[in-house]
Amino acid sequence: MTRDSLIGIVGTGLMGTGIAQIAAVAGQRVLLFDARPGAAVKAVRSIGETFRKLTAKGKMSEADAAGAAGRIGVVESVAGLKEARMVVEAIVEDLPAKRALFAELESLVTADCILASNTSSISITLLGAQLARPERLVGMHFFNPVPLMELVEVIRGLATSDECARATFEAARRWGKTPVYAKSTPGFIVNRVARPYYGEALRLLNEGAGSAASIDAVMREAGGFRMGPFELMDLVGLDTNFAVTRSIFHAYFGDQRFTPSLLQQELVEAGRLGRKSGRGFFDYAEGSAPPSPAFEYPRPAPVHFSAHGEDVLIAALAPRLHSFTQVSEAAFAHVGSATLALTDGRTATERARTEEIPNLVLVDYARNFATATTVAVARAADCADEAFDAATGLLQAAGYQVICLRDLPGLAVLRTASMLANEAADAVNQGVCTVEGLNAAMRKGVNYPAGPLEWADEIGLGRIAETLKRLGKYYGEDRYRTSPLLRELELAGRSFGK
Ligand code: NAI
Repeated sequence: MTRDSLIGIVGTGLMGTGIAQIAAVAGQRVLLFDARPGAAVKAVRSIGETFRKLTAKGKMSEADAAGAAGRIGVVESVAGLKEARMVVEAIVEDLPAKRALFAELESLVTADCILASNTSSISITLLGAQLARPERLVGMHFFNPVPLMELVEVIRGLATSDECARATFEAARRWGKTPVYAKSTPGFIVNRVARPYYGEALRLLNEGAGSAASIDAVMREAGGFRMGPFELMDLVGLDTNFAVTRSIFHAYFGDQRFTPSLLQQELVEAGRLGRKSGRGFFDYAEGSAPPSPAFEYPRPAPVHFSAHGEDVLIAALAPRLHSFTQVSEAAFAHVGSATLALTDGRTATERARTEEIPNLVLVDYARNFATATTVAVARAADCADEAFDAATGLLQAAGYQVICLRDLPGLAVLRTASMLANEAADAVNQGVCTVEGLNAAMRKGVNYPAGPLEWADEIGLGRIAETLKRLGKYYGEDRYRTSPLLRELELAGRSFGK
């Protein structure tokens, strides 16, 4: 075994243990150190247990497991890592502790040893600032659980050398991960760009758009996300999620885009932290009922429906309703006295009034109308009950469960997709990462169904920009200001993909 493959790992908690496992499986020799006596040995035992489970399930051969386990060792002090080619730090998230560790490491390791930090919130530039050779310090940000999550953000501080960043990128690739370069900025890529997923949902809940269960159902079944925002916050822990939002909000000097939620703060103060405390947005106590979205009760199927024009909603309704479809021109569907249209970022009431459309029901975006099982709608203030019944009956006849949200601009999916795209566009505009890097990071780091910029291209940058403008006008807040890159591409008639 050459020195080239020797990796040191400091901090063998949740993350360090996972990093040690994947590096060893990939053929690296790994030495572990933890300040807490016995912690590194415990980590080795836990990795051995994981290997045993994988071999029992037939996911790993006995020989591979024995080989990988044999490559993992424990050292009693940081000095035991002096021969390492690379040291990955995964200790407590505390600047003085990390600084002290890197200073000590720097005095021990050879000049070409890479020092990588798994920090999720500390600036790599700041961490490197006191080092004699800051060019060899890099961020190597893994996601939890490390063996399962493919993304690694390779973060460059101001002084990080190209060579160091490239070698770290290659190491992540060798360890079976999808690395993405990012510039050291608060939240890096994923923790920053994901904020609107939680932030807009919290605002929708706070404004009474619908229940947490209903908003979750819309984001999952229509938005295509693996988990709704509230069940996800309950899983991550409301305290952790709130702390990340607060730290990013402060790091961006109070930018309204990241304003934390008072509603979330109150739940944290009440000790409702999610699954780990037995209660968050939802109740996890024994015998408690699962969250139930407010689906509309079944209405009669319409006998006649006509559609005009072509957009993604009409295109999906037509084949689902072949027995009563007549498609002609402008994207509306008429059923009974109701008019259905796809949301364009205005409220139903505003659009009904501006365009003089009686009984307007707006339909939220779906990631894929052809396969979605649920759609959200909003009714204009003057929409009569019988018209709403007819519109609901039509969507139900098309095979959708219907959730009626309060009439707020952009409903849930389009509003969230627009804000995710906006944050993503700003990250690219500020040179944090490339368009491809951004899309890959959100797909692999948080399992989004599509990269936010791919999705924006699909929806159309005109509709995204218009939605943001309308949200901004409605709320009068800087939070919804359009990213200059989004505006630039939209004006040029281009997309992120080209
Ligand atoms: P953890 O609390 O599970 O493990 C930290 C380990 O570091 C403990 O075993 C502790 O004894 C050890 N330690 C603390 N100070 C030390 C020192 N000065 N020298 C040597 N060992 C020391 O924490 P976790 O969750 O593994 O996080 C580690 C790092 O990874 C943090 O920087 C965190 O922000 C980051 N991170 C955490 C993620 C997560 O989901 N938990 C995701 C991505 C990054």
